[in-house]
Amino acid sequence: MILVYPGSFDPVTNGHLDIIERAACICDKLIVAVGNNESKKPAFTVEERIELIRAAIGEREDIVVTSFTGLLADFAKKVGARAVIKGLRAMSDFEYEFQMALLNKKLEPDLETLFMMTSVQYSFLSSSAVKEIARNGGNIDGLVPDGIKDRIIMKLTCR
Ligand code: PNS
Repeated sequence: MILVYPGSFDPVTNGHLDIIERAACICDKLIVAVGNNESKKPAFTVEERIELIRAAIGEREDIVVTSFTGLLADFAKKVGARAVIKGLRAMSDFEYEFQMALLNKKLEPDLETLFMMTSVQYSFLSSSAVKEIARNGGNIDGLVPDGIKDRIIMKLTCR
C-alpha cells in the first residue's frame, strides 16, 4: 500500500521525522510530498526542503521524497496512493485537518485520510517555531535532525 505524507516541511522538524518513520512502518511505500505553494512565502525553496528531508532520512528504499503542485487529491491519485497520512499534534490542528480531509474525500472519494498522533515529546513543535527560534539566535538542538541543523541556521540567519 502506498501512503502520501504531504506538508510544507519549511523546514522538516523532528516531529515530521517521527511521523515519517512511523508511517513508513505501516505501508509498503511512503511518498513524502512537499507542497509547492509559493503563496505561503516559504523560507526554503522546494528543492531545499526536499534536500533537507532526504538528508534527514538517509537512503531509504521505502520512502520517496518529492514535491507536488495543485491539488493533493490529484497528486495522490496520480501516484496510486490509497491514503493520505497527516500528523496531529493537538486539538488546534483538528479543525483545519478535518476540513481538508472532507474536501479531499469530496474531490477523490476513494482516497482516505489517516491521522497519526504526534509523539508527545514533539507535540509543541512546529516549523514556524523552529524558524522563529533560529532567526533570533536561539538553540534548535533536538527540534530538527542534527545533520541538517547547521544548514537550517545558516539559511535563516544569513541575509
Ligand atoms: O504542512 P502544511 O502547511 O499543513 O501542509 C499543507 C498542505 C501542503 C498539505 C496543504 O496546503 C495542501 O494539501 N495543499 C494542496 C492544495 C489542496 O489540495 N488543498 C485541499 C483542497 S482546498
